[in-house]
Amino acid sequence: MSSDINLLEIRDFLTELAYEVGKLITSNTGKTTFDDKANAVDLVTETDAAVERLVADRTKARYPEFDFLGEESYVPGVSKLTDKPTFVVDPIDGTTNFIHSFPFSCTSLGFTINREPVVGVIYNPFLDWLYTGVKGHGAYLNKTQKLPLRKPPVGSKLTIQNALIGIEWGTQRSGNNYQVKTETFKKLAAEQGGFAHGFRSLGSAAMNISAVAAGQLDAYWEGGCYAWDVCAGWVILSEAGGRIVGGNPGQWEPAVDERIYLAVRGGDGSDEFIEGFWDSIEGKLDY
Ligand code: IPD
Repeated sequence: MSSDINLLEIRDFLTELAYEVGKLITSNTGKTTFDDKANAVDLVTETDAAVERLVADRTKARYPEFDFLGEESYVPGVSKLTDKPTFVVDPIDGTTNFIHSFPFSCTSLGFTINREPVVGVIYNPFLDWLYTGVKGHGAYLNKTQKLPLRKPPVGSKLTIQNALIGIEWGTQRSGNNYQVKTETFKKLAAEQGGFAHGFRSLGSAAMNISAVAAGQLDAYWEGGCYAWDVCAGWVILSEAGGRIVGGNPGQWEPAVDERIYLAVRGGDGSDEFIEGFWDSIEGKLDY
């Protein structure tokens, strides 16, 4: 059955859906009240839930035979990504940005077969940036600009020292994971350590991965996010020549729901870059 699935048709369907959802997101930014999830910095709004309902309804109506995994309807210990064709959806990625009207939130609509991301559509309606990727068919910004947009100069190698790296502090602000992240940030930044060019926190996994796919960030390191945060970006980045490996040392082929990731742009030196990055990690992330 999987071989009969028309991935380009799914991309076009998800693109139209993303534009529809975009209007709902922009019309509510900064206006909604929010609730806490795991703690006082893990936030959700009514708009997250409304967008997910809309996406779930539309996907179910058009593709009733496929499964659906979404951030807001996820039930810990019950909802699971399986081998079945599945829409993997973060209705609003970058909810904190959405609450603060910082224009880096997006809808992230992915599709997996056998747990492999094969279609990805990410739309930031504030900046009108649409990233799309289909396995075997490339990745694009706004349908026509092939990714990556920025190619490093010929002969230059990907190194930590020359890199602009996406990082996120996450919602756990104590304990092992907080310690590993902050100590690793210090090591990557220090003159006696990685001495990287710089760090950016876009506040959305999908936006960070899209920036790696575009070649604007060289890498993005994350622990704690979920399949819906990375699924769409995964295929966009792969089609742009980059890849996602594990965010702990030695994990070359992580599962999409592994929760610990290092996304790296394409280009010479990426294996050495990954090993160098892993050597810089102070401890082990555990989610
Ligand atoms: C979050 C964002 C954030 C990442 C978190 C995610 P949400 O998603 O992608 O950048 O660091 O791990 O949970 O809550 O805004 O959908």
